[in-house]
Amino acid sequence: MFRPIHYFGCFLLFVASILLLVTTISAPVINSISVMRVDLGRNASSLTFGTFGYCVLNSEQGGDWCTGREIGYDVSNIMVNAERTGFSEASGNTADGLTRVMVLHPVACALTFISFLIACAAGIIGSLIGVIVAFVAWVITLVVMATDFAAFGIVKNDVNEDGSGSVAYYGSAMWCLLAAFVLQFFGMVIVFFTCCTSRREKRRNQAAVEPKNDYGVSSRRSRWGRWRRN
Ligand SMILES: *[C@@H]1O[C@H](CO)[C@@H](O)[C@H](O)[C@H]1NC(C)=O
Repeated sequence: MFRPIHYFGCFLLFVASILLLVTTISAPVINSISVMRVDLGRNASSLTFGTFGYCVLNSEQGGDWCTGREIGYDVSNIMVNAERTGFSEASGNTADGLTRVMVLHPVACALTFISFLIACAAGIIGSLIGVIVAFVAWVITLVVMATDFAAFGIVKNDVNEDGSGSVAYYGSAMWCLLAAFVLQFFGMVIVFFTCCTSRREKRRNQAAVEPKNDYGVSSRRSRWGRWRRN
C-alpha cells in the first residue's frame, strides 16, 4: 500500500536533483540561465549571473560574451563598470564574498541525486540512509539558497534604485533552486514515513492473525489475487 507513495517520494528527489542541475549549469555554461539577470538601461545588453561566472547577452562585439568558469566573482565591480554608477563598498564586498558559496550548487545537486538512488534502490535500511543523505542535501540547499538571495538581493536593490534605468530580477536558476528546496523537503518526508510506517505495519501483521473475509480466505491474499487476475 505504501510502495507507490514511496516511489513518489523518490520521484520528487529525482526532480529536485534535475532542478539543481539546471541551477548548476547556469551562465556561463548556458548563457541565458541565470540566478540574477540585469537588463541594462544604457544599451540593449543584459547581464546574466550564474553559478560559475556571468555573461553579457547582445554585447557590443555582437553575440554573447561570457567569462571563464570561476568560483565567486566581483558582482559589484561588474555592475559598477556596466552602469557607470557607484556601489556601497561594504555591501559590495558582502555580495562578492557570498557569490563564492554558489560552489555548493553542484554539491547539493550530487547529494540529492545520490539520495534518490539510495532511497529508491534499497530496502528499509537503504531508505533510511537515503533520507539522511537527502536531509544533508536539503540543509546545503537551504544555506546556498539563503546566501544567493542575500547576495543578489543586495545587488538587485542597488541596481533597481540607482537611477541607471537598469532592471535587475531573479532568473530561472534561482526559482529552480527554490522549487528544488521544496521538492527535496516533501520527497524526504515521504520517503521517511513510507519506509518506517511500512516496517511497523509488517511487524504488526506478523503478530496479529490475518483478518478473514466471508469466504474464509485471507482478505489480504484475495486482494492480491484479484489484482493478479486483472
Ligand atoms: C552595453 O554595455 C556593457 C557594459 O559597458 C557592454 O559590456 C556591452 O557590450 C554594451 N552593449 C552594447 C550593445 O553596446
